[in-house]
Amino acid sequence: MLDFEELAAAGRDPRIDYFNRLAENWDSEEPSAALMAAKLEAQQDLLRFSSGLRLLEIGCGTGKTTTWLAAKVGAHNVTAVDFAPRMLEIALAKGIAAEFRCVDVCLQVPGQQEFDVVFCYHCFPHFRDQSAALANLAAALKPAGRLIVMHTAGRRRINEFHAGVSGPVSGDLLPAADEWPELLATAGLELVELIDRDDLYFLEARLAASD
Ligand SMILES: C[S@@+](CC[C@H](N)C(=O)[O-])C[C@H]1O[C@@H](n2cnc3c(N)ncnc32)[C@H](O)[C@@H]1O
Repeated sequence: MLDFEELAAAGRDPRIDYFNRLAENWDSEEPSAALMAAKLEAQQDLLRFSSGLRLLEIGCGTGKTTTWLAAKVGAHNVTAVDFAPRMLEIALAKGIAAEFRCVDVCLQVPGQQEFDVVFCYHCFPHFRDQSAALANLAAALKPAGRLIVMHTAGRRRINEFHAGVSGPVSGDLLPAADEWPELLATAGLELVELIDRDDLYFLEARLAASD
């Protein structure tokens, strides 16, 4: 686990303060936890989260989706990480049956080959170094594991939304479809599926077969 002295030494990402400030009101902002759970439930055929899977939730924020994830894969099968301590404090106070870790995924592998699924929900655009993050997330996957990047809106809407927000996230973008194969390949991953429509962004990748 990183502590925040280490983060400061590594070059503090201004998004940490940004998300810390948002944490206080995160749970009262839309989408609600109930709406997020309903949207995830609607995509169960794609997600295929079943009991017993070890799941790593990236950018868990205040744990709005962590309760739903723990119900799907089982208590204590979810490890939820974020780099904004205030978000994590609020998540921890909820008593969710999951482990919470303070990790900057651009700097650190959140667990070596531990997970069947690495789930990036509403967070991938915010990784300041997406190649480094993908390499760290790939290292957390078991050999047959899956990486999922998901939003409940398509790329155009997500990128327009961030471009319209002031502060350190205004340049945070989802890559274009033709950028993903190379981005994934540099992390030893390959694309399995990409869906980009108005109400859903869903990317699944797996570790590339080695020769
Ligand atoms: C838009 S919020 C989404 C939070 C949560 N997934 C939700 O939907 O409510 C993005 C989250 O990603 C986290 N985050 C951004 N960059 C990160 C990084 N490099 N490492 C870990 N967490 C990060 C932020 O702190 C923030 O909590």
